[in-house]
Parts: sequence; C-alpha cells; structure tokens
Amino acid sequence: MSSSTVITNIATLVTNDPSLGDGSPLGLVQDAAVVIDGDRVAWAGESSKAPATDNRVDAGGRAVLPGFVDSHSHLVFAGDRTQEFNARMSGRSYTAGGIRTTVAATRAATDAELEANLTRYLDEALRQGTTTFETKSGYGLTVEDEARALRIAARHTDEVTYLGAHIVSPDHSDDPAAYVALVTGEMLDACAPHARWIDVFCEKGAFDGDQARAILTAGRAKGLHPRIHANQLSYGPGVQLAVELDAASADHCTHLTDADVDALANGDTVATLLPGAEFSTRAEWPDARRLLDAGVTVALSTDCNPGSSFTSSVPFCIALAVRDMRMTPDEAVWSATAGGAAALRRTDIGRLSPGAYADLTLLDAPSHVHLAYRPGVPLVSGVWRRGARVV
Ligand code: NIG
Ligand code: FE
Repeated sequence: MSSSTVITNIATLVTNDPSLGDGSPLGLVQDAAVVIDGDRVAWAGESSKAPATDNRVDAGGRAVLPGFVDSHSHLVFAGDRTQEFNARMSGRSYTAGGIRTTVAATRAATDAELEANLTRYLDEALRQGTTTFETKSGYGLTVEDEARALRIAARHTDEVTYLGAHIVSPDHSDDPAAYVALVTGEMLDACAPHARWIDVFCEKGAFDGDQARAILTAGRAKGLHPRIHANQLSYGPGVQLAVELDAASADHCTHLTDADVDALANGDTVATLLPGAEFSTRAEWPDARRLLDAGVTVALSTDCNPGSSFTSSVPFCIALAVRDMRMTPDEAVWSATAGGAAALRRTDIGRLSPGAYADLTLLDAPSHVHLAYRPGVPLVSGVWRRGARVV
C-alpha cells in the first residue's frame, strides 16, 4: 500500500483548479496543504482542513505550484552554435539555415553522446521545476538518424514528436519534393512507432503550407497527432492550417493577422509562445495580450535548442513573458503549467487537484509572482515528480 504525505504550511498554493481556491484560473489557496498518495494528489486545500497522513513535510511558508509542463523543446542534438549566436548579437539575423550546423554535429554523434546530452538538459530543466517535457527529432533528417533520435527521446518522455520536416535535408536541397516523399513515406514508417506527435516547420526556407498539410496528414494516417511550428519568422499559413487540422498546438505565433487570431479563438488549438526564441534571436515579441484578450488558450515553453533558444529555464521564460509579452504573472504561471498540459492535450498534469499526478514545485518565495518579480534568481527549492521528491 502506498503511504501518504502532507505538504503543509504552504503560504500560496497554485492548484489551477478554480473550484478549489479563490475562483481565479490559478485556483489559489492561502495557508494551504497538499496530500500526496502514491504518485497522485489525493487532496488540496486549506491547511486547517487537511486529512491525517503518514508523513508530513513543512513547506516553511513558501509557495507550491504544479511542476512546469515544457511542451516544446528540441533536446536530441550534439554541438552548439556559439558562433552563430555571437554573429547575431553583432547584428546578423536568424534564419532556418543554421539548423544544418546542428544536423551535421548530430549525425556525427554516437547514441551515447546524444543521450548524455539529453540527460544533461533534462537534469537542468528538472532543477528549475520542469516535471513534464515534450521533445522532438529534427536534427537527423535521414531515416536512421530521425528514428534513433526518437528512440532516445522515448526513453525519457512519453511526449515525443517526429520533426523530420524541420528543414529540407541538405542531401535533398535540389529536390524538396523527394524529401517530402521521404518524410511522408519511409521515414514516417520508421519513426511513427516511437512518437506521439508529428510537427513541421512551416516557414519560408523550410516547408510551405501545401507541403506542411501533406506531411501532417500523412502523419495523422499513421496515428500521430499534429502540432506546427507556425508564423515564427514571417506571416504565413501555419496557424490557420494548425486550426484546420485540429493540431494540439501552433507554436511561436509571432506574426499573426487578425484572421489567424480569430481562427485560434474559434478552434481547439493552443497557441504556444516561446519567448526564449525572441530573446535569443533579438526578434519582435509575440503579442500574448492580443491572444489572451481574444480568448485564445496560451501555453508558454522554452523551445530549448542550440540555435534559436538555448535555455531550459521555464522561470526565465515566465519572466520574459511578463516583462516583454504583456502577460500578468498569474497568466504566465498558468500558461507554463496548465497551458502546457493543454498543448499536450493532457488533463493529468498541470494542476494540483485530486487525481492529478503529484508533480509539484516548491519555491523559495512566498508566492508564484516571485518567478517574474525576481528574474534570474534560482527560486526552485524542491521538486516532486510522480509523488517522489527529486530535487
Ligand atoms: O523552434 N523554428 C524551428 N526550429 C527551432 C530552431 C532550431 C534551430 O535553430 O536549430 C525553433 O526555433
Ligand atoms: Fe521549436
């Protein structure tokens, strides 16, 4: 039989369950407790009403929130792109072409090197409060290299995305149609068993709307569910295609027309904003306020990758979202937890109410607002994953 633990003396508890707390989307409870039974939350509410348990942990008057759900990262890669970053910070602009540098390094790496790299970034993320992460292939671009990236990723997460359509492989640069045929044919057959999702970089210099539709439709026929890198560097068809195909998420959403915003507001596709990318490419910020005011569900993630956003820190992205994307601290925290869960179409994570996985982050601060109020400060002082304390 599993034993139960109460975490008590929580100054501010973020449940993301409006029925449990103050009625706000964050479902805030002051002077709160959470009871963990096995890998699940058994109870959450005011400390004075907590049921009796076997064990007790004193949160010391600090804040507890759901573990972050990082619903967009690219962590199976080798090498880095310091030179490219330096060039950008001296005025060069970001293009999809830099992906080729990482493709060459990734192809040259052994499985063990790729896995060690992945584990290192996962440990980094866990120490910063991330308890669920999605990650993608996309730096192999051959049948074997894409399939091995997914196999390695699947040892560490259930949220694995096939991104053979990151850019046209350098081996097919004179025949993009042949590469799309490979991505939707032999490569898809090899990759589908290891993935839950299929993604495409729908952008000038990568794949156009027709190619993206063909790729996602082929993936769907093999049981993969779509998500799209959409409208990152320029206006384009990605966001509306995402809604049309009922993609779980349209990611980046930096360049949006009113019709794009309307489509998101009227569909079930989450807009995932990735401010680490705008930070690291010195690009224009996505307008989170415009999306939120239109009623769009917004997720916030790191996009951790060696080219456009080499951060594994969700707290950093929360601070950017509040400072530069006009989100309130409450909205940013919701988007990095419940929003990420929605972008992965999950209801068992991203909230701390009975039945959810006991994935919790303890802050060395009295409230979740400090994540934005104290940028750059390592506030995460405890992490529980599936009911076990891991940090
Ligand atoms: O999400 N936009 C496409 N893919 C990544 C960047 C990958 C890279 O530059 O290596 C992104 O920003
Ligand atoms: Fe990305």
